[in-house]
Amino acid sequence: MIDLLRRRRSIRKYEKKAIGKELLDDLKEALLRCPSSRGINPWIFIFVDDARLLDQLAMVKEHGSSFLKNAALGIVVCGDETKSDVWVEDCSIASIVVQLVAQSSGLGSCWIQIRKRVHSPDMTAEEYVQKLLGIPARLKVESIISIGYPAETKKPVPHANLTFEKIHYNQY
Ligand SMILES: Cc1cc2nc3c(=O)[nH]c(=O)nc-3n(C[C@H](O)[C@H](O)[C@H](O)COP(=O)(O)O)c2cc1C
Repeated sequence: MIDLLRRRRSIRKYEKKAIGKELLDDLKEALLRCPSSRGINPWIFIFVDDARLLDQLAMVKEHGSSFLKNAALGIVVCGDETKSDVWVEDCSIASIVVQLVAQSSGLGSCWIQIRKRVHSPDMTAEEYVQKLLGIPARLKVESIISIGYPAETKKPVPHANLTFEKIHYNQY
């Protein structure tokens, strides 16, 4: 796992290649095996592989989402706020875990933030995604994880760049 994290980077360029069923099944299983507060599992995951929908989802924000149009898959991570007051934490865990499992299978991925982001002056990014995919209002949209076979390589962050001063022992 530490080796996976040493090589982990956000990948925003993808090959034009579909993800096979076995890998998709692993991604689904990883999501559903994530821990959640009180085991409530307040999440819903929408796997989007339709090219037209990916094109439209890529326009969810002015910045930081356009690469989704070239991804093989976007996983829309939603949390039911009526089921858990800590759906944000639960959905964040699922979002990062699926990224790591994707990486371990040779895929690249990037988190696209939706919660608290805007689509346009009169529409939030969340409303845009809800409308496009028919998601009911009680389901909050946390993120979209774009996934595909990597068409870029990125250097790992050097060990020397890690901010170990952020780790304190026993007292601040
Ligand atoms: C909560 C969160 C939100 C993020 N939102 C976006 C986003 O909307 N668009 C994007 O391109 N990258 C997004 N990222 C990826 C970060 O930009 C990226 O992790 C950071 O720049 C460090 O780069 P690295 O992942 O390659 O180490 C997000 C990452 C996190 C954890």
